[in-house]
Amino acid sequence: MSIGGTQPEPIRPTARTATPRRLLMCRPQHFEVTYSINPWMHPEKPVDRELALLQWDRLREVYLSLGHTVEVIDPLPGLPDMVFAANGATVVDGKVLGARFRHLERTAEGPAYLSWFAAQGYRDVLWPEFINEGEGDYLPVGRRILAGTGFRTDQRSHHEAQEFFGLPVTSLTLVDPEHYHLDTALAVLSDTEIMYYPAAFSPGSRSVLQNLFPDALHADPQDAAVFGLNAFSDGYNVVLPQAAAGLIERLRRRGFNPIGVDLTELLKAGGAVKCCTLELRP
Ligand code: ARG
Repeated sequence: MSIGGTQPEPIRPTARTATPRRLLMCRPQHFEVTYSINPWMHPEKPVDRELALLQWDRLREVYLSLGHTVEVIDPLPGLPDMVFAANGATVVDGKVLGARFRHLERTAEGPAYLSWFAAQGYRDVLWPEFINEGEGDYLPVGRRILAGTGFRTDQRSHHEAQEFFGLPVTSLTLVDPEHYHLDTALAVLSDTEIMYYPAAFSPGSRSVLQNLFPDALHADPQDAAVFGLNAFSDGYNVVLPQAAAGLIERLRRRGFNPIGVDLTELLKAGGAVKCCTLELRP
């Protein structure tokens, strides 16, 4: 029986295994909401930066306690959204596709992240021709990359990414402004499994997802509205916003270990768990 949905929950006989990951994060030292580039951002509403820092520290501790490695990039003043490290690049097979932001307010983040990669000794780095907002819109699943477009990443970037990584890139069109990045509407759970919010996608893209992932977990509107899909999974542990109660229960039934965290201050900028996390895939 499923909770909060009509899908039956498939039985998973095999045990799930977590694999240790290397992650990049950026402390919200300069976090604030001074502009609005998505429907969640209301500059007139106060932001509690101290609380944002505490919530972020807690997320980092959760990752460390799960055995993951967390690298940090220095936050820069004047770049309040730099905390959303997922947007800084896309890293697959040790290759780095730089980010090129849609909005002027965030453009300086692209080069800032790329210099971090250069300083770390990454050599295979591409400064992109087309707008793309990193892992906000690029989500690798096994040896395929799912790619969002519609609000931020230019569809032409999808071809650029396919040529650069040499992996198939599947274009998906987002249609709901509240789910302006792919990682706000879809989360990768393992090399073969995802969860997503169907209403955030165009009919054609919904059908593509249905064909590729017939068993996928579908989030309901309540869980999507608290950014429950903005989650990080290591194959077993799934870190996600704690308010996504329905998803937490359904992930457990599928044999995952959901871990709820509170990132409500960062949600005031339209971000949560995954947005704060860039995976450095070797
Ligand atoms: N305020 C930021 C923006 O609108 C939030 C980015 C969230 N990041 C993400 N990976 N979805 O660009």
